[in-house]
Amino acid sequence: MSSGNAFNDAWGDPQNQKQAPIDMAELRHYRQGRGAPAATLDSATLQARRLTLTWSDSRTGQFPLMWLRDHCACDQCRHPMTRERLYKLLDDPLWERFASDDALESFEFDAHSLTLAWRDGHVSRFDAGWLYQRCPGQELATLLPTATPWAETFTPDHIVHADFVGEGDGRSRWVRALLRDGLVMLDQGPCELEEVSRIAESIGPMRSTNFGGRFDVRSVPNPNNAAYTAIGLELHTDLPNWRQPPDIQLLYCLENDAEGGESSFADGFAVAEILRAENPDAFRVLSETLIDFRFQDDGHDIAVREPVIDLDEAGRPREIRFNNWIRDTLSLSADQIEAWYDAYRAFWQILRRPEQRVELTLEPGQMVAFDNRRVLHGRNAFDPNTGKRHLQGTYLDLDMLQSHLRVLSR
Ligand code: OGA
Ligand code: ZN
Ligand code: ZN
Repeated sequence: MSSGNAFNDAWGDPQNQKQAPIDMAELRHYRQGRGAPAATLDSATLQARRLTLTWSDSRTGQFPLMWLRDHCACDQCRHPMTRERLYKLLDDPLWERFASDDALESFEFDAHSLTLAWRDGHVSRFDAGWLYQRCPGQELATLLPTATPWAETFTPDHIVHADFVGEGDGRSRWVRALLRDGLVMLDQGPCELEEVSRIAESIGPMRSTNFGGRFDVRSVPNPNNAAYTAIGLELHTDLPNWRQPPDIQLLYCLENDAEGGESSFADGFAVAEILRAENPDAFRVLSETLIDFRFQDDGHDIAVREPVIDLDEAGRPREIRFNNWIRDTLSLSADQIEAWYDAYRAFWQILRRPEQRVELTLEPGQMVAFDNRRVLHGRNAFDPNTGKRHLQGTYLDLDMLQSHLRVLSR
């Protein structure tokens, strides 16, 4: 096939306009030299309903014609403001013809672009770098760091508040550390009420729970939650009694001069892996046995039945639910009950090992952020007669954190 009249009709002289960047209705970089591939398009051949493209670095990809038609980014196929898809492949009268090479009238390419003229007169233009990134069968490179288990020497990254709110890369370093380690510190912030809300809302809407959108952690006269007393809190995850517990927790310290109240953290995924290696039976029991979690107060009774260690399809830990004070009645058979307590204790003993824990004392103006579905947190008891302890906290959805990093990386 060669270029036909459709090209000239569609945008005039192709020689003059080929180099203009092609808008792929995409806010992420895909053009040459902006973090995008340096490779240029070398060849395009049509065979058996697919275009095979080859780039200058030898990457080659087979693009089904129906995929190419579906991904046209012109103003008719993608809404020019929302960038969302308007085109409906499944209703296209050409549908039957995508089953052969027949849907395509002609095609043309150069180093930076591919142009397709369809039988119905529609013309689709693709940026070669955009196609390169999306070669079928290649994973689209992610900007998100992978979660990495803590080594025994792990200490969290610290970002200074002024760098976080400033123009530099402090914010993206903070997000990256949080996604990678599940724990990150923000230092030297203002001792101002609601600073935690301002930080959260600069990332996404606060995730509300039965404790509100933003909560105060201090000892109060009629607490409905262990956190609102002065007693110690063993390592735990928050709200495992919800179908979807909050993803990210922010705890901002405003006052901490009471005796005690030191914080501790442990990487639940790393501990689960140690348990799997040391005691595979216990690991199996905790990942296969559903148990009940429940919170009750005057206005709520929120309960789920889930395992302590939830695994993904590949058998990797996806979520830890561990909170002794909102574990509900253990309703299992007698045999299961004994095996489950044994397994739970084995997990707890690894969690308690000093090398699995990060301990620190939050300072006023310091905020800790952690992945509540991976990292367990706790605090020592404090004595409210010796001084004040006041934290403000809130939660965020992981989607907002990931989105924030993608936007920062544009
Ligand atoms: C909580 C909590 C820890 C602390 O509010 O869920 O665990 O340091 N607080 O008070
Ligand atoms: Zn189109
Ligand atoms: Zn907690």
